[in-house]
Amino acid sequence: YGISGSTNVQGEEVKKLDVLANDLFINMLKSSYTTCLLVSEENDTVIEVETEKQGKYIVCFDPLDGSSNIDCLVSIGSIFSIYKKDSTSKPDVSDALKPGREIVAAGYALYGSATMVVISIGAGPVNGFMLDPAIGEFILTDPDMKIKPRGKIYSINEGYESQWDEAVKKYVQSKKFPQNGKAYGARYVGSMVADVHRTLKYGGIFMYPATKDAPRGKLRLLYEGNPMAYIIEKAGGLASTGKMAILDVQPQQIHERVPVFMGSSEDVQELLAFHQQN
Ligand code: AHG
Ligand code: MN
Ligand code: MN
Repeated sequence: YGISGSTNVQGEEVKKLDVLANDLFINMLKSSYTTCLLVSEENDTVIEVETEKQGKYIVCFDPLDGSSNIDCLVSIGSIFSIYKKDSTSKPDVSDALKPGREIVAAGYALYGSATMVVISIGAGPVNGFMLDPAIGEFILTDPDMKIKPRGKIYSINEGYESQWDEAVKKYVQSKKFPQNGKAYGARYVGSMVADVHRTLKYGGIFMYPATKDAPRGKLRLLYEGNPMAYIIEKAGGLASTGKMAILDVQPQQIHERVPVFMGSSEDVQELLAFHQQN
């Protein structure tokens, strides 16, 4: 626990566990002999794998998501997406600046009341594997995960309401004071992995919109927005920036941010209708 005493490329305080998780990810990926280029939330620039250890995959990852929850024992996670290098040229940053549509596999690990890995590969389904610590294996407990078309939960940091745009304000208001039917419940862990995993399991919508202070939102496209959008879409849900599908955004920079609205298809469509009206 505790802080490492440094700040990362986004100027955020880095926790000791962020550094440990990042070192583990980098070491494991390099020594797998399957990767050539790595993008980590914790590293300013892309990491090129030593030539003799290179393979054909590019991996973008958030080694530890939800850092503010570490010291109070609330669930945290790890997020990753994998791309395949399409040429034999020396790997460089352009190989990592691909839209999420080109992802070949993505997923996350959630360290909660149990440890679970949720992953989807190629044209395959979304599968959830729970760690059985007694045998040290991940067991397929949640095959072919699907998200409900509509949920009963909205998830957003409501402390920033004064900074939201009209569409988000009106949408959230409509969930709290519905004209017919019951109000939605509110849940916000503050670890994207936990909030999106709950959304996948129970349905509803997770939002991290643009705010006045953060005009592109807070979450990062390459290793937060895209992998989670890939899982949600494959499970039958929607993932949008408010203007377009997250997976269709053409990245310009490895650490760029993106507004995020993802979850049950009807819930996200309803939110998008507010964006169109405003
Ligand atoms: P990280 O710990 O990798 O920096 O990410 C934290 C992110 C994400 O997990 C979460 O959804 C969001 O920050 C919470 O931010 P707010 O505290 O602004 O709500
Ligand atoms: Mn994160
Ligand atoms: Mn992180």
